[in-house]
Order: sequence, then structure tokens, then C-alpha cells
Amino acid sequence: MVIESATAADLPAVQALLTGHNLPLDDVTSHVATMLVAREAGRVVGVAALELYAGGALLRSVAVDPAAQGQRIGHQLTEAALHLAGERRVDAVFLLTTTAEKFFPRFGFEQISRAEVPHAVQASVEFTSACPASAVVMRKRISRSVRLQADPPSVS
Ligand SMILES: CC(C)(COP(=O)(O)OP(=O)(O)OC[C@H]1O[C@@H](n2cnc3c(N)ncnc32)[C@H](O)[C@@H]1OP(=O)(O)O)[C@@H](O)C(=O)NCCC(=O)NCCS
Repeated sequence: MVIESATAADLPAVQALLTGHNLPLDDVTSHVATMLVAREAGRVVGVAALELYAGGALLRSVAVDPAAQGQRIGHQLTEAALHLAGERRVDAVFLLTTTAEKFFPRFGFEQISRAEVPHAVQASVEFTSACPASAVVMRKRISRSVRLQADPPSVS
């Protein structure tokens, strides 16, 4: 299994994965450049996408094929997305979830209110229309040292 940058050719598999988990497809095609996939024998078995905005990034579409769950793929995708955020000198990563608020604290995410989210992130399609108002909002701050230490891109 490898974690690598997605390409436009991965979008049908990514969309099928998100649909299978009832996760929003809205605007997902706009963020392929900062999307990561987990690939096993050439097949997409997981995805995580980062949307970059002024004031922070939005982590969305973290999903693993049910047949491949429980093998740390979700962990590796989340960690790779956070590494990418460090490389891009992002101050904080935000996410919305209705299903996995107990998964993300292990990576340093904490629950916050919508009002604490930068305006540019709140203006994203995910915030404005794709996710229900009842979704939990979470934030992980990326420390300055992590941002400065981030290696050149670790994903191909
Ligand atoms: C959440 C998800 C990405 C985790 O992927 P995964 O590859 O199965 O997870 P990993 O193997 O890396 O980690 C397994 C651990 O996460 C926990 N976990 C998995 N899904 C969880 C969830 N929805 N909520 C809380 N904990 C969860 C497992 O209990 C396990 O815990 P342990 O390490 O204490 O045993 C996957 O379950 C999934 O695709 N869920 C549906 C889509 C979703 O809800 N995405 C998040 C919103 S964007």
C-alpha cells in the first residue's frame, strides 16, 4: 500500500468511495492537487483531501474502503495530509465530521465552534452547503516548528 498524490484519473474511484460512505462530493474535483490516495495493487482504497484557504486548510473526504479498514490506512492518510499542510506552511487544519469526531483527536484535533473558523474556510462549499449545520467542527494547530521542519514533498 502506498500513499501518494491523487491525479484526475483517480476521481471516479474517489467519488465512488465517498458515495459509499455518504460523504459529500461537492467541489471535490477542485482539489485534486492537494488530494492524497492510498493505493493497493493499483486500486484506490483510501482518500484524504486538503483544501487550502487563507488562514487555514480544510481536511475533508477522509475515507477508507470498508474492506481495507482497520489496517492504519486512515491513520497514514491523515498523517500524510497533516504533513502536506506543514509543507504548505498552514497554521491550522480544520475539519467537519458527523461520523468520526472520536477518530481525529488522536492526531491533535480538538472540537471548536464554527465561529472560530477563519472566514475563508467557512466560505468553502463543504462548510456552506455540503455538511449539515450539526456537524462537529475540529481544529488542529500546526506548530511553527513543524511548518519550518517540513521536508520537501514526501508524496510523489
Ligand atoms: C474513519 C476512517 C477513515 C478510519 O480509517 P481506517 O483505515 O479504518 O482506520 P485505522 O485503521 O487507521 O485506525 C483504526 C482506529 O480508528 C478507530 N476508528 C475508525 N473509524 C472510526 C470512527 N468513525 N470514529 C472513531 N474511531 C474510529 C478504530 O476504532 C481504531 O481504533 P484503535 O486504533 O484504538 O484500535 C474509516 O473508518 C472510514 O472511512 N470511515 C467512514 C468515512 C468517515 O467517517 N470519514 C471521516 C469524516 S471526513
